[in-house]
Amino acid sequence: MRVAVITGANRGIGNHWTNRLLENGWIVYAGYREDMGGLGVIEHDNLIALQLDVTNTDSIEKFVENINGNVNLLINNAGVPDGRWRNLTEIDDEWALDVLNINSLGPVRMVKALYPKMLDDGLTKIVMISSLMGSIDDCHMGKSYAYRASKTALNMFTVAMKKECIEDNISFLIFHPGWVKTRMGGDRAPVDIEESVEGMMKILENHTIEDSGVFIQYDGQKIKW
Ligand SMILES: NC(=O)c1ccc[n+]([C@@H]2O[C@H](COP(=O)([O-])OP(=O)(O)OC[C@H]3O[C@@H](n4cnc5c(N)ncnc54)[C@H](OP(=O)(O)O)[C@@H]3O)[C@@H](O)[C@H]2O)c1
Repeated sequence: MRVAVITGANRGIGNHWTNRLLENGWIVYAGYREDMGGLGVIEHDNLIALQLDVTNTDSIEKFVENINGNVNLLINNAGVPDGRWRNLTEIDDEWALDVLNINSLGPVRMVKALYPKMLDDGLTKIVMISSLMGSIDDCHMGKSYAYRASKTALNMFTVAMKKECIEDNISFLIFHPGWVKTRMGGDRAPVDIEESVEGMMKILENHTIEDSGVFIQYDGQKIKW
C-alpha cells in the first residue's frame, strides 16, 4: 500500500488531504502540532495521527521513527500567516523569523528527515503547499512581508533541492492551493477546500519527474516565479 505523510493535518487544507488520501486507499501518517482537531473524528485503520511540530527536530525525529517502511508521498502543508503589518516599520523581527522558520525551513527539515525512507524503487512525490503570494512576478500589492518572503524562499529551496533529488527518483510539486476558505484564508475566500484539494490531487496523480519543481495552481494554471 502507498504511504503518505502530511504536516498540519488537524485542520484546513491538510485535514482534507488526509481524508481524501484515506478514501483513495493510502496509509496516512498525519501530523498535528498540539491539538488533534479534525483528525480526532476520522475513524480509519490506515490513519496514524502523530504529534509533529515542523520547527522542532526532536518532534520530527520521533514522528519519523514511528513510520513503518518507506514513504511514497510527503505533503508539506503546515504553514502560518504573518502579522499583516500595515507598514514596514511595524514588521516584527521575531515573528518574521518564526514565519520563515515554519514556512520555509519546516518543509526542508521534513525532506531531510524522511529522505532515507524515500529511496525505494518507485517515484516518490513531495508536495510543497506554497502560495501565489510567494511569486515575485505577482507581488503588485506588497505587504504581507514575512509570509511572501517565506513562500518565495520555500520555492527556491525546492527548485534547488530538485536537482539533487532527481537522481534518487524524487520529484517535487509546488502548489498554490488557491485562495481557500480556511482559518488562514477566511470566509471571503472564493475557493472551497474540497475544490482546491480535488484539483491538486488530480495534478499530483498525473505528475511525472520531468515536471519536477513546477509552480502550479490547484486548477492547473502555471504560475510565474
Ligand atoms: N487558505 C489559503 O487561502 C491559502 C492560500 C495559499 C497558501 N495556503 C497555504 O496552505 C497551507 C495550509 O493552510 P490552511 O489554509 O489550511 O491554514 P490553516 O487552517 O491555518 O492550517 C494551518 C495548519 O498548519 C499547522 N501548523 C502551523 N504551524 C505549525 C508547526 N510549527 N508545525 C506543524 N504544523 C503547524 C496548523 O496547526 P495548528 O492547528 O496547531 O496551528 C494547521 O494545521 C499553508 O501552508 C498556507 O500557507 C493557504
